[in-house]
Amino acid sequence: MFSRFSATCKHLLTEGSQKVLFRQVDRMSSKILHQTVWDSDPELFEIIKAEKQRQLKGLELIASENFTSMAVLNCLSSCLTNKYAEGLPGARYYGGTQFVDQIELLCQKRALEAYKISADEWGVNVQPYSGSPANFAVYTAIVEPHGRIMGLDLPDGGHLTHGFFTPAKKISATSIFFESMPYKVNQETGLIDYEALLKTARLFKPKIIIAGVSCYSRALDYKKFREICDDVGAYLMADMAHISGLVAAGVTSSPFEYSDIVTTTTHKSLRGPRAGVIFFRKGFRTNAKGDKIPYDLESKINQAVFPCLQGGPHENAIAAIATTFKQASTPEFKEYAQQIINNAKQLSESLQSKGYKVVTGGTEVHMLLLDLRPSGISGAKAEYILEEVSIACNKNTVPGDKSALNPSGIRLGTPALTTRGLKESDMQQVAAFIDQAIKLGKEIGKESGPKLVDFKKSVHCGEWNSKVECLRNEIEAFSEKFPMPGYDCY
Ligand SMILES: Cc1ncc(COP(=O)(O)O)c(C=O)c1O
Repeated sequence: MFSRFSATCKHLLTEGSQKVLFRQVDRMSSKILHQTVWDSDPELFEIIKAEKQRQLKGLELIASENFTSMAVLNCLSSCLTNKYAEGLPGARYYGGTQFVDQIELLCQKRALEAYKISADEWGVNVQPYSGSPANFAVYTAIVEPHGRIMGLDLPDGGHLTHGFFTPAKKISATSIFFESMPYKVNQETGLIDYEALLKTARLFKPKIIIAGVSCYSRALDYKKFREICDDVGAYLMADMAHISGLVAAGVTSSPFEYSDIVTTTTHKSLRGPRAGVIFFRKGFRTNAKGDKIPYDLESKINQAVFPCLQGGPHENAIAAIATTFKQASTPEFKEYAQQIINNAKQLSESLQSKGYKVVTGGTEVHMLLLDLRPSGISGAKAEYILEEVSIACNKNTVPGDKSALNPSGIRLGTPALTTRGLKESDMQQVAAFIDQAIKLGKEIGKESGPKLVDFKKSVHCGEWNSKVECLRNEIEAFSEKFPMPGYDCY
């Protein structure tokens, strides 16, 4: 039963502790407690293995995804998952927290080190379960119910949690419990319209302006955001979820110099576990009149996370974030982050040279947005045909799209493929595969007509089916050549 454990961890135990362990194992009678998932639940394990195969064989271009390290996986599946630790280190509502306290403090320390910020000026809460709860916690902390927030509109590249609503419905809870006003990108250039943001902010007078994006291929002008916030007396909250790995590596502009609050996920370009982190200013800020005002964010934000919105922190995830920040401070990670950008630029250039339109004309971060209107295929059809040939990406609205339900673009990101070791020359091949798939999709679309449902049927019919299969085999053979961190088969 424990053969796998003894094979992998025996060397970590003294002879004495090995004997104790195996005596304990002998006494264990409950099968469900001690069997591995592959022995106890093959039905589930087969599905997990199939997902691993999908990850291995496919080209992962979803901009928010990554393949995390063995060390992160080790932390996630460690004994830390057993521990309740409501509260903060040193002030918990449970006993037995001496070790998780150490882990959480280490994680906080490494978080500040990773972004080269001082503990005198910044505090950090590493407990948010993910990016959405982190953002909601910030609004809960410093915006009163139905107070005002402004974020980039979702169809323009913002995130749901930046206050998304439609004329028909308040979609995100951040637009139900707070009043949100979107700002937009310029429809021609695809760039954030800072002038319009200033004008609207002067009218709307938000408590917070959010500088953060889920689909935007340019570095944000945090200085400009700061000026606008100062003009209207708003807090600047940067949501660096997508770029937090790039910021840690120092290969893109950092929001810390100008922001009052910075939130992030830890599982995108940072390559950690699925979790969220909130950084908040300490010390003093200067208001529009030049008065020095003490920040009061620390206790408000800590209390918003717990007990307002969450219960016990996931200490296994916190350990995994700690080891992620250690990795993010290494020269190897810096090289990785630079390669992410190089790969995105190469992908963008290669696709442009094949005639594709890239929104904003290129990229300076980890992703690009293809505008497929000139290519004559919808975002949904492109996403579908790419998935059928084992390229994962997502359809996305492009500036000027009339319908968010039928978007005209696809978002392509390079963090995951860069983790697998792909370089610029490989990205040229990836661009060629994307081009082949989209051309095939266009051919199929001509025959199937405009409806997605008919298109999907045609993809699996006769001659088209074999062409799709042929391209998929080629792509999977290419993809399988690249290594993947984590466990071999799951
Ligand atoms: C900018 C931004 N903020 C927040 C989130 C939410 O993160 P999560 O999915 O972990 O809740 C995302 C997720 O994609 C994001 O892109």
